[in-house]
Amino acid sequence: MSLPAPRVAILGLGAYAPEARITNADLEKLVDTSDAWIVERSGIRERRKAAPEQAASDLGLMAARMALADAGCDPSELEAIYTGTASGDFPFPSTACVMQAKLGCIGGAAFDLTAACAGFLYTVALAHDSIASGRFKRVLCVGTEVLTRITDYNDRGTCILFGDGAGAVVLGPADVPGGHRILHSRIHADGRQGPLLHQPAGGSRNPASHATVDAHDHSIRMEGREVFKFAVRTIPEAVERLLSEAGVKGSDVRWLVPHQMNTRIMQAAGERLGIPPERTMINIDRYGNTSSASIPLVLNEYVKAGKVKKGDLLALVTLGGGLAWATALVEW
Ligand code: COA
Repeated sequence: MSLPAPRVAILGLGAYAPEARITNADLEKLVDTSDAWIVERSGIRERRKAAPEQAASDLGLMAARMALADAGCDPSELEAIYTGTASGDFPFPSTACVMQAKLGCIGGAAFDLTAACAGFLYTVALAHDSIASGRFKRVLCVGTEVLTRITDYNDRGTCILFGDGAGAVVLGPADVPGGHRILHSRIHADGRQGPLLHQPAGGSRNPASHATVDAHDHSIRMEGREVFKFAVRTIPEAVERLLSEAGVKGSDVRWLVPHQMNTRIMQAAGERLGIPPERTMINIDRYGNTSSASIPLVLNEYVKAGKVKKGDLLALVTLGGGLAWATALVEW
């Protein structure tokens, strides 16, 4: 398969995480767990927690403003805002619309898409195509989550994993100087696996009631072991397909940028792809799983630390509720 010449690039990147932390010691006080178990099974030591007055749009705006500044892009130039979130401010209006009002770029497109942890890379794929088709010249993609508001702190199988954060990129045409070209991207889902990771109540299937609140059914429910097995198989397969279609070998990839879901899953993927741990971006120890925010959050950390050099090939991969997964190959 020969791919068309790259037409779209990342022009700016930003990320934000709230200050407050939930440590493993804090969780030991809430559920029957231990720091040693959590670190060994997931790699997580602490996660961030939004302040009571912060919603997903507030975190997203912090990241968006950084990405816009990084791109040298005035908000008035944005023609669209695409947001991936599973914990938006409201069922509607969209978190993208809430952010649009605050950024002041009125009249362009703004919407959220539902692809859980794959949300951010889904927005990037969509923004890529919006720009490649000539529809738009500047699109803001945001992944933002306040997962601590939909986490059940009675459920030790899930509460150890999730944290809050946001990340954003500005995309534009590949001929803009300083841009990081998107060489290829793919989006996928297997809807049969939906019950493995879901939020049972609050939609039209199971509207909010006293019973749903009492049952904690507005929180994330997960078959952790099954999601683990699916991810260990699917993540490397998805990256292999992305790379082979782009004519790139695992050894050419400078950085694997995986969704921060579990250190064991990320390491297993790296091993199978021939990408050693020192070339795999990891910050799950300090942020936990921040769903759609996790890829821009870890990427921003490595970029701002000067670890990513011009020309480095980055393989981004994520998987989450749906189950949905996505990949992207970026030349930095
Ligand atoms: N502390 C201590 N013990 C725990 C525990 C906790 N927080 N959570 C579960 N356990 C127990 C289980 O009850 C089970 O006990 P049993 O053997 O007596 O039945 C045992 O530990 C093993 O549970 P299991 O679920 O098989 O553990 P695991 O090794 O699969 O690790 C996860 C659990 C959740 C860390 C792991 O499955 C995972 O990360 N899955 C992927 C989840 C994910 O990333 N979801 C988001 C996708 S975006």
